[in-house]
Amino acid sequence: MSPDSPMSYENLLYAVEGGVARITVNRPDKMNALNFSTITELGSAFDAAKADESVRAVILTGSGEKAFVAGADITELLAQAGNAKGAADLAAFGQGVFRKLEHLGKPSIAMVNGFALGGGCELALSCTLRTASTNAKLGLPETSLGIIPGYGGSQRLARIAGPGVAREWILTGDMFPAEEAHRVGVINRLFAPEDLEEGTQKMLKSILAKGPLAVKFGMELVLRGWDMDQTSGEALETEYFGKAAETEDMREGMSAFVEKRRAAFQGK
Ligand code: COA
Repeated sequence: MSPDSPMSYENLLYAVEGGVARITVNRPDKMNALNFSTITELGSAFDAAKADESVRAVILTGSGEKAFVAGADITELLAQAGNAKGAADLAAFGQGVFRKLEHLGKPSIAMVNGFALGGGCELALSCTLRTASTNAKLGLPETSLGIIPGYGGSQRLARIAGPGVAREWILTGDMFPAEEAHRVGVINRLFAPEDLEEGTQKMLKSILAKGPLAVKFGMELVLRGWDMDQTSGEALETEYFGKAAETEDMREGMSAFVEKRRAAFQGK
């Protein structure tokens, strides 16, 4: 399959254009809720985006006007009631898929175009960055259903926005307007609905114009460092700083600055 040809999935749209893989969860009649087969397909799509050398970044979004992803499929979850082993296995499976996204080694942006609830919010939290339209609503409403987040959200939200925010979102189960999600740092950039696409593309373009290895190192550093104490994290930073200094991109970036021209990075 050529890098630019669309891949075919039942519940996803997958297309590569201009080095960006766009993955769209496509169950609009169910608010793009994540059933088991959709999560399985997401795993394959993340593998494909990782393996495809023409893909430099990923945009993840939801089909239709109303939802990014309104959570795990509650009908399927109900079938797990009373079955601790089945539910724990499902959580572990979903966590594994979401971890693939987080460890893609390429920047990913969740473009939150509507409801991002429960598993949908957790999916967005697994991306490198998040943009949202002002009409989006986010939250972890699992406690309203008598369960808790199961796809890594309790851990990622606490790391991204702090334990106070994670406790508020998990314990109240409230839905938060995108403005509030932006205020607490869950959403990086907020746009009017009609500007969401362009604003997200512009953010990605800015990232893709930078030294590719430096971007990769920066992502790895934050990801690996967030479980470390400050001293260990600084040791890791030192190591990456040294690695960056060995790249041709560093010479090119600094020469371009001195010569007052735009850098032509090669990712080497
Ligand atoms: N799982 C399964 N189906 C879902 C779903 C989910 N998480 N979220 C929405 N749907 C389905 C609805 O059941 C409905 O299906 P139907 O037309 O066959 O009845 C369809 O999507 C449209 O949803 P509806 O509730 O009618 O739309 P709305 O605009 O009134 O409300 C939401 C939108 C997102 C507020 C509401 O659907 C909702 O609260 N969803 C559940 C959110 C949640 O708790 N997620 C966490 C799961 S762990």
